[in-house]
Amino acid sequence: MNRRQIINAAQTGNKAEAFEAADDFPTNPDLHRTIGDVIAARYGRREVLTGLLGTSATAALFGAPALAAPRPANAAVSGSQSRYAFDELAWGIDETHHVAAGYDANILLRWGDPITADAPEFDVMNQSAEAQLQQFGYNNDYVGFLPLNAEGTRGLLCVNHEYTNEEVMFPGLGRQDKAEFTGMTRELAEIEMAAHGGSVVEITRGADGKWMAVRDGAMNRRISPLNTVMAIGGPAAGHPRMQTGADPTGREVIGTLNNCAGGMTPWGTWLMAEENFHGYFWTDNLDTEGEPDLSAQPEAAQMARYNVPAMWYAWGKYHDRFDIDREPNEVNRFGWVVEVDPLDPLSKPVKHTALGRFAHEGAETVLCAEGRLVIYMGDDTRFEYLYKYISEGVVSEDRAANSHLLSQGTLYAARFDPDGTLHWLPLVQGHGPLTAENGFASQADVLIDARLAADALGATPMDRPEDVSPCGNGTAFVMLTNNSKRESGQTDAANPRPESDFGHIIEIMEDGGDHAATRGSWSILVQCGNPAIAAVGAQWNPETSENGWFGSPDNCAIDAEGRLWVATDQGRKWDKTGKSDGLYGLETEGSLRGHSKLFFRCPVGAELCGPYFTPDTETLFLAVQHPGTDGTRSLKGFERESTFEDPATRWPDFDPAMPPRPSVVVVTKKGGGRIAV
Ligand code: FEO
Ligand code: CA
Repeated sequence: MNRRQIINAAQTGNKAEAFEAADDFPTNPDLHRTIGDVIAARYGRREVLTGLLGTSATAALFGAPALAAPRPANAAVSGSQSRYAFDELAWGIDETHHVAAGYDANILLRWGDPITADAPEFDVMNQSAEAQLQQFGYNNDYVGFLPLNAEGTRGLLCVNHEYTNEEVMFPGLGRQDKAEFTGMTRELAEIEMAAHGGSVVEITRGADGKWMAVRDGAMNRRISPLNTVMAIGGPAAGHPRMQTGADPTGREVIGTLNNCAGGMTPWGTWLMAEENFHGYFWTDNLDTEGEPDLSAQPEAAQMARYNVPAMWYAWGKYHDRFDIDREPNEVNRFGWVVEVDPLDPLSKPVKHTALGRFAHEGAETVLCAEGRLVIYMGDDTRFEYLYKYISEGVVSEDRAANSHLLSQGTLYAARFDPDGTLHWLPLVQGHGPLTAENGFASQADVLIDARLAADALGATPMDRPEDVSPCGNGTAFVMLTNNSKRESGQTDAANPRPESDFGHIIEIMEDGGDHAATRGSWSILVQCGNPAIAAVGAQWNPETSENGWFGSPDNCAIDAEGRLWVATDQGRKWDKTGKSDGLYGLETEGSLRGHSKLFFRCPVGAELCGPYFTPDTETLFLAVQHPGTDGTRSLKGFERESTFEDPATRWPDFDPAMPPRPSVVVVTKKGGGRIAV
């Protein structure tokens, strides 16, 4: 199917589903290599750049935010006692959310909630970009929490707003991708832009244990692709390929978009990952089938490798920078990781080009043994790669001095060998195939075209690498959400199932327990899907109940107890599991390794993002994204596509005048105490 056919297909019942289906066109040209070919083609081993600053650093240096870094998992656990002390929730699909018995799951922030002192109240029938810029954005995804007091009862919530669903946001509009965007006026497009980006919101916990948003918090701010000016930092800053008519310096860009997952640094800044940026770029040059014609583009090959332009939004009709015919370099200024200092509402966010350009799912950080910063990052597209970044210097007590760690360091792509060895391949210009003759004339080229550089290095194409949770002991868990397009001849040891509808989770163990190692080992923790259907090929701990198994792991977290939590996003595959998306506690140790328990489930149509635990494990933040859109045909009695007027759920307000609203949920134990302990 081509783009137009996907948009109109019955099985892509909403824009989110169509967006996901568009990933069915892998742009990775090198899918038919066997793993042996990959090894043979690999260029000579080159180890990590020499560490310049060898002094030790400990979490104690960094104050409260760093204390959120998880403790190592307890290798001594060997018993058959679950480490998740809660009564498992029953699976199902209905119009609201559910949490395990003994817990409260309250709504903390909804799309449209005013977050500045003079913000207007939300009026869904008369929304404006100006109002939206002072209100909580749409489709909350990553959630980070930065404590502001020692007790952890006051802090800043940092929330990404990934994308917008016009058919359930705006009255009477419907799916615009199906209608050639004829109803998408400049005004509506700018509301969409204002609803993207991120929010910083102060929250406090009262004596009754309940969390509340502080509407006039001094550090509250909205970040958007409409009006937030950002610096471009790192090796690609200022490069001619980063220069545009509006910014001849190549060092300043307006905004960030499709901010999916992210991370918090040990020094308390917030990393926003730019994921499906290709969907926001437009062209009027179409071929006879209505597909983008790149023949006049000087960077046609690079654009094709990134599936640009995908034309999921019509912003390019009104803002030249999103039109590749008018401003072909703007696309090189998206697909990065953005660093924001939430403590300074006037600070200028920075796009860090050293972390590479791809469909960044997340950017979870961890310190290696000697105190350098390590960031694990998935490129969430079928057959794309897993990356990690290692800073050159060590994290310092001087907070302001740490941002350079995100500019000076080495990016690596992962190669998973069938013998269980993991190799991290450095994306460094001049080494191996990354030469001018091969199209990499500078380090800027390597980073702007990170996918092409990783292709050349022989990284392993994965089943959509999503979020990664590192632990403090050189271990990391990689969510691989699904890949229905991998054919039987394309499987390998790390992606063992063809037509994988349900995904799997890989555990990485870096050599020496050191996240800065360039070699490690890997194993599959679970293969997801229904274990009762042999053809699915699921692998769980046999103690896992019918409530506990899941499909399509997406986001994840490690709590301060060292336990792994996994959130799911099945996209349009709800009918294949019959389950809603949710949050699961997944054992990684002992005889229960691979045992999963359902803790929270979403209302119909929503995927679950976040999750984020406070350092004391007493609070869990969850982001319920796009309620009422995905898989609504699976809701008995509804079985159709949601619209503004007729949604599958009106969660969380259940007000007949209000459509569903993406919202952040806060989970606490009734009567207080640590979660699942
Ligand atoms: Fe934005 Fe990969 O989910
Ligand atoms: Ca995600």
